This record gives sequence, structure tokens and C-alpha cells, in this order.
Amino acid sequence: MTPASKGHALNAQRILLCVGGGIAAYKALELVRRLREAGAEVQVAMTAGAQQFVTPLSFQALSGHATRTSLWDSAAEQAMGHLELARWADRVIVAPATADLLARLANGHADDLVSTLCLATTAPLSVAPAMNHRMWLNPATQANVAALRERGVQVIGPDDGPLAEGESGPGRLREPDAIVAELAAAPVEPKSVAAAAPGGALKGLRVVVTAGPTYEDLDPVRYLGNRSSGKMGFAVAAAAQRQGADVLLVAGPVHLETPAGVKRVDVRSAAQMREAVFAAFPADIYIGAAAVADYTPRVAAASKIKKTGESLALDLVRTPDILSEVAALTQGKLKLVVGFAAETDNVAGYARGKLVAKRLDLIVANRVGIADGGFESDQNAMTAYWADGERDFPSAPKTQLADDLVALIVERLNA
Ligand code: CTP
Repeated sequence: MTPASKGHALNAQRILLCVGGGIAAYKALELVRRLREAGAEVQVAMTAGAQQFVTPLSFQALSGHATRTSLWDSAAEQAMGHLELARWADRVIVAPATADLLARLANGHADDLVSTLCLATTAPLSVAPAMNHRMWLNPATQANVAALRERGVQVIGPDDGPLAEGESGPGRLREPDAIVAELAAAPVEPKSVAAAAPGGALKGLRVVVTAGPTYEDLDPVRYLGNRSSGKMGFAVAAAAQRQGADVLLVAGPVHLETPAGVKRVDVRSAAQMREAVFAAFPADIYIGAAAVADYTPRVAAASKIKKTGESLALDLVRTPDILSEVAALTQGKLKLVVGFAAETDNVAGYARGKLVAKRLDLIVANRVGIADGGFESDQNAMTAYWADGERDFPSAPKTQLADDLVALIVERLNA
């Protein structure tokens, strides 16, 4: 047993090893073994270049996980999407890191699997460069390495010594044992532990969040829908989860990944959303962020509606107002009911009207139909109103707004 692996220096860490395309790629096989001996769970991603030197199968045999080789492998993506893999990792190590790979990382490229993973992860990143000594000493490479260091990237090696082409100089990949020792010397907090102990202001509370649009079917091929992307509701669900809540997300038809640690039920229509919401009770907090259709066809035609006349009138009936029903039926049981209002004008007037009419504790209004913000944007600005107060949330990314909104919800709970 090596000094680094003694005592399981990397115990239970989830390590994503990204292998670059250099001759030293063969040493990355040994590195997988050493990382596992030190107690880590290892998944491997390879660049196209790396696959010219070593096969994915070799890494698979040593890591015990399927090796990831492409952004476009739909079977692998289905098993674990690349963003999920980036989030899975407690730390990411690039070894060998070629001159080209360092340049692409320094510039934030995302044009292949490895660069995308490195850009998408929030886990600490380490790079172990390996290349010809003249490439290493080139000011371009040195500038790239300096830029990465400045961003907190751990640079391991390279060593000085004989190189592949019969020359000698700085550019050898550091030995696997030494890489493991350097990783162990820069400890990271495993995410599994961090996820179990989040902010905690909503610990022990059950939160039901609705998000996205609803689709009301007219016939087997057509529906009435709206432009809600679901981003805000998903961000709120994630923010509540970060505060320790047990979160159930009732999602209309959207193309969004489920936030880590959040339970999700997918629905299509307003009627299905209502059913899923009431099935989720009892709960402590209800956040109605979905853009629920106000009207639905009286009957959905069993077969495709044919064009007959010059005009067509749809016979629509009101959908149940889920938010009002929740507020009315569960009065006194829920600790807080939060609604959303998307308005194009007279934002404060309409929002306050809904706060009272729907008997809400809090309503969050945002102006839709403006250029930068609203439904499909990642950015938004909004104002929250409650009986005796209001708060402006200036334009910010939806994830930031969600954290701020959850902070306000915590405040209102304690008020
Ligand atoms: N809502 C709901 N069920 C409905 C319609 C709306 O639960 N059938 C909820 C939404 O989730 C949101 C809030 O009510 O939290 C406001 O929805 P909005 O459509 O903006 O307001 P409406 O009350 O429908 O009024 P209007 O469409 O006239 O503006």
C-alpha cells in the first residue's frame, strides 16, 4: 500500500477523472487504481484524443463505471446526463491535461464532453499537465495555467525528466501516487454530506411547488398552452430544498431537469395538476408558480377536428382555480400560501387584488411582455406583496431570485 492510499485519504469522494489526449493517458489508468485504493469512487470521461491512446474499455474495467466519451451518446446521456455527472462529482481532475485542453479550459470552451463537464461543474478542479517541455514553457501555455490558478484551479506538476520523444525537461505527468497525495492534501467537502446539511431554515417542513404551463387538449393533436418555461418554479423548488425542506414539485409540460433532492410529479392539464396538488397534502407551504390555464375545452374531441367553416369558435369552460382552492380548503392547516401573478400592466393593483381575492399570504408579481425577463428568460425582476408590506426584487438570474424569495418566505413564516 502506498503512503497516499494508506488511511483512505480520499474516502467516499466522488471523483470525475477527465483524460486528455496525450501519450501520458496510459498513466491515467494507473491513476484510477490509485484513486480507488485511496477510497474514492471514480467515473472517467475521455476526449477524442485520449481515445487514440487508450480505450474506454480499459477505464471502464478499472473504474467499475461506463466510460463517458461523447456529449452526443444518447444511451449514456439517458443513464446520467452530462450535467448530472458534473453535479455528481465532489471534485474533477484532468489528467493528463494537454496544452490544448488547458487552453480550452482557460477560455471556458464547451465544445466537447470534457470541456463541458469542466465548465458545468461547481466542484473543485485539479489539472495535471503533461506535454512536450517546449509546449509547457511556451508563454501561451504559461498564461493559460496562470489564469486557471487564479480561478482556484489546483495545478499538479508537471515533473521534470525524460519525455516521450527522447528529450528531457518539464512536462512529465506527475506520478499517480503523487497526484493522489496532492489531491488528499487539498480536501473537499463531499457533496453527499453537504446535501444532507443544507441551510436548514425550512428543515422539517413539506413544501409543494407547482411550475410550468398546463396544456388543455382540444383533440388528439392540438392543445391550448402558454409560454411559461417552468424555470422560476423549478428554481424556487431547488431553493426550498437547499433550505432543508421536503419538496414536491408538480410540473406541467417542461423540458427541465429535476433539481437535486426534489421529488417531482409530471402533469399535463389543470385538472391533473389540481389532483396531484391535493394528493400531495398535508403540507406546510404551497407555492403556486405554475401558469395554470384559466379555461379548458368543454370537451376534448376524441378524433382530430376537421376544418369545416371559415371560422371556428371554441367552447371553453373555467378550470378550477387551484391556488384559491388550496387557500380556502386548507385554511389554518398550511402555514403559508404563496401565489404568482404574471401581469402586463397595473402590476401592483392586480397583484394586490389577487392577494385578497385568493386569500393568499404572499403574492409574487412579475411584469410579462417586456424584452428582458418574464416567461422564457433566465433573468427576471419581481415584486412580492403581503397584507402589510411589499418587497422589490431587482433584475437578477432566476436562481438568485428564488433564493431571495425563499428567504422572504422564511421571514413571513416567522412573522
Ligand atoms: N392559478 C391556479 N389555478 C388556476 C389559475 C391560476 O392555481 N386555474 C394560480 C397560479 O398558479 C398563480 C396565480 O393563480 O399562482 C395567478 O394566476 P394568474 O393567471 O396570473 O391570475 P388569475 O387569477 O388567473 O387572473 P387573470 O388571468 O385574470 O390575470
